[in-house]
Amino acid sequence: MSEVATHDDHHDHVPSGIGRWLFSTNHKDIGTMYLIFSLVMLFLGGASAMVMRMELFFPGLQIVDPDTFNNLVTNHALIMVFGVVMPAAAGMANWMIPIMIGAPDMALPRLNNLSFWLLPMAGIMLILSMVVSYLPGTGGQVNTGWTLYPPLSVQAGMGMDFVIFTIHILGISSILAAINIVTTIVNMRAPGMTWFKLPLFVWSWFFTGLLLIMIMPVLAGGVTMLLFDRHFGTAFFDAAGGGDPVLFQHLFWFFGHPEVYVLLLPSIGVLGLVIPTFSRKPLFAYKPLVWFMAMLTALGMVVWAHHQYTIGMSLGVTTYFMIGTILISIPVGMMLMSFIFTMWRGSMTFETPMLFGIAIILMFSFAGVTGVMLAVVPADLQYHDSYFVVAHFHYALIPGALFGLYAGVFYWLPKWTGHMYDEKLGKIFFWWTTIGFNVTFFPQHFSGLAGMPRRIVDYSPQFAEFNFISSVGAMAFGLSHLLFLYIIIKTIRGGEKAPDNPWEGSQIGTVGLEWNLPSPPPFHSFTTPPTIK
Ligand code: CU
Repeated sequence: MSEVATHDDHHDHVPSGIGRWLFSTNHKDIGTMYLIFSLVMLFLGGASAMVMRMELFFPGLQIVDPDTFNNLVTNHALIMVFGVVMPAAAGMANWMIPIMIGAPDMALPRLNNLSFWLLPMAGIMLILSMVVSYLPGTGGQVNTGWTLYPPLSVQAGMGMDFVIFTIHILGISSILAAINIVTTIVNMRAPGMTWFKLPLFVWSWFFTGLLLIMIMPVLAGGVTMLLFDRHFGTAFFDAAGGGDPVLFQHLFWFFGHPEVYVLLLPSIGVLGLVIPTFSRKPLFAYKPLVWFMAMLTALGMVVWAHHQYTIGMSLGVTTYFMIGTILISIPVGMMLMSFIFTMWRGSMTFETPMLFGIAIILMFSFAGVTGVMLAVVPADLQYHDSYFVVAHFHYALIPGALFGLYAGVFYWLPKWTGHMYDEKLGKIFFWWTTIGFNVTFFPQHFSGLAGMPRRIVDYSPQFAEFNFISSVGAMAFGLSHLLFLYIIIKTIRGGEKAPDNPWEGSQIGTVGLEWNLPSPPPFHSFTTPPTIK
């Protein structure tokens, strides 16, 4: 073979057909696969929520038995967190970060392939966890919820082993992807692309990547100890053997609280592009915003025990976790103010991504308010394990993470597909899903304050009205996603050709919009030598 690769040589290395996807090292193809995977999982996780809300339409048991309900609770959370929000954000990172920083691809393209292909394996394993629970002699359902607290998780049936293995695979996938993204941002920036020229989305993933590298090993360790307690005679979490079940809660929430920011930060990064673009103004206070993200990341690592006030910690420790948690409202509030000041006196237009952006600011602020309520120890002792908590974190994660990703999908669909989506349908989807979401979760604050416990298949009749309204909203919220799917398929299949700068956006700071690049992009972006500086 000659030293200089000819065009034909190169062409030989680009597999076609299914091989293009199986062996892909192309950040755009891998990004697309992440996005499609998360879309499939969205319908799976959504279906499990719909079944739960159908059961809760009326008091009494109607369509599922209590064990199945508990298993649905577990699966819904695991699917939404690990199967939907994280892969969708990773898909956007894969697609956009190399383009935004002027790199030809991710720093570690083959690792990128492995990170993605571990995911469908984990997804299958998670589905199997539910399937094996129904086989005779496997010990029943995975009835712990996604928090997997012992002793219940030590006693649970074989399905729990599948869940533990699922989390191991997911953990490997997330850590590898995070290493890849952080390495890419550190090493692959084009000459002149200095740290404080990075678009906010890139910064958000830099901090997300660091968080993942710090927290995923702790969760992996926790569930491994669980596995040992289940099968190898250890007693890490067994008081009778000298262990302590509360240890698991600390390990889980050391992962679990920062994980919330893993879910939120990429969406805040998307807002950092959407709000300036549709306001035709540079992002207000870009540098402080980056530092507030750093502050959020750091504080997020040290507040985990606010999920366990009820375990009986000392007054000093409890007070520390309370004050730390309340402090988090500073960076979050500053970020939201920064977006509001970006809109101030801008030439705003209200296409679908911007509608989501504004809705996020309003609804996520509301989650912030209930979050401060829950941070206050004496109040939390009353709200703990009630539907108020369910309402709070769905207001945090559906606007804060999911709607941010929807904003990103509508913002970048023209870039990804080369076509404009149907703006009218996009707006219908926005209103349908936003109203459905609020009708679902707003009443849950009240049923929670009235004392309805969370993760429960049945409830006493005084909660019937709130639950009926909530279930009606959930059906609307769930069904709106059929329109979402239709819009995406329609856009992929055709439509008006996307111009280079479809949103007529301004420059963001000194960084031009990535729309200046050809759209749709060339098939294989690794055709030019890397420009590593
Ligand atoms: Cu938390």
